[in-house]
Amino acid sequence: VAKPIYLDYAAATPVDPAVLKAMQPFWRDDFYNPSATYLAAQKVGKDLQAARARVAACLGARPTEIIFTAGGTESVNLAINGVMQKYSKAKMLVSAIEHDAVLKTAIQFNHAVVPVTGKGVVDVAELVKMVDDQTVLVSVMYVNNEIGTIQPLRQIGQALATIRRERLAKGNKLPLYFHSDASQAPNYLDVHVNSLGVDLLTLNGGKIYGPKQSGLLFVKAGIELAPQVLGGGQENGLRSGTENVAFAVGLATALELVQKQRPTEVKRLQSLQQDFVRGLQKAVTNVQITAEKAPKLPNNVHITIPGVDNERLIMQLDEAGIMAAAGSACSASNDEPSHVLRAIGISEKEAQSSVRFTMGQGTTAADIKLTISTVASLVK
Ligand SMILES: Cc1ncc(COP(=O)(O)O)c(C=O)c1O
Repeated sequence: VAKPIYLDYAAATPVDPAVLKAMQPFWRDDFYNPSATYLAAQKVGKDLQAARARVAACLGARPTEIIFTAGGTESVNLAINGVMQKYSKAKMLVSAIEHDAVLKTAIQFNHAVVPVTGKGVVDVAELVKMVDDQTVLVSVMYVNNEIGTIQPLRQIGQALATIRRERLAKGNKLPLYFHSDASQAPNYLDVHVNSLGVDLLTLNGGKIYGPKQSGLLFVKAGIELAPQVLGGGQENGLRSGTENVAFAVGLATALELVQKQRPTEVKRLQSLQQDFVRGLQKAVTNVQITAEKAPKLPNNVHITIPGVDNERLIMQLDEAGIMAAAGSACSASNDEPSHVLRAIGISEKEAQSSVRFTMGQGTTAADIKLTISTVASLVK
């Protein structure tokens, strides 16, 4: 039997063997509670702080600005609930293509949704217009998980900095924080917080060849958040509970590795992406490439094949040994049409004919060639 072809790296990534190795000591040998006082436990505490310093270095942040969490969803919840519970009368903005972790959390508060262009990129001029004197938080993802489009964080960060200055000049002391869910970004993009202009940044270990349920929130020094998990006061009092040192070390190792491999991986995947798109355009009549002209991650190929039932195609591909996604696997129920596709003007009917392929470290040119011919033969 041929090796299965996995093309759903946006849903989950396998843990890098080097990450597994780095986590190994913390299950049995170095299992101690990092807050305990004997020497053996202090060493574990030091390993935890070293992991914090390592991720901070990848972000150009201070170790004290890093809060370890149990994944992307939790980090997003901490950022949004953390700010909005402190400023309960204030308002927040989210983009129309955020992950449900952001959208469902924002719904609890006074919020407005910023539209995106047909290319799947946030309309910055519109966003700026929507910020008013009551706005305390803006949340825009770095990269969309379904269609792979890269959002103009630097531009948004700069625009918000201008608004902040104008506000202060008017005597309005309400802060204006910028959060970004960067769950899908680190494999292919720079994540230095200063150059992005963010105040809060979510990272997700499960998408970067680290463990699922590992993650972090960068919280810029001086920002006060409402704590979300009460107890022993770990993680700066924001999310109590004995720290998962293995996962913190795993996350740090994963982040360092993907950042180091980034330049070569980007080049390699850009070329595969081009072959993938050209191959499909040649072999499949009427195939549409989603957000083809937009700034996009090199691992994403999102397509619509009019008239094709995507659920059926996904099942047939699976039978042929190819794993892909119809919509986002990041939500447990896939029944509703994708809000992301709707936001970029794709009809419900077209959305039911769309498939997401996301490539990663294991993807080869042969995989792509076989996927193109399999899709072509299935939709004939
Ligand atoms: C952009 C984005 N944000 C948040 C999440 C949620 O991450 P998790 O389910 O690992 O908490 C995901 C993926 O599931 C994602 O792609």
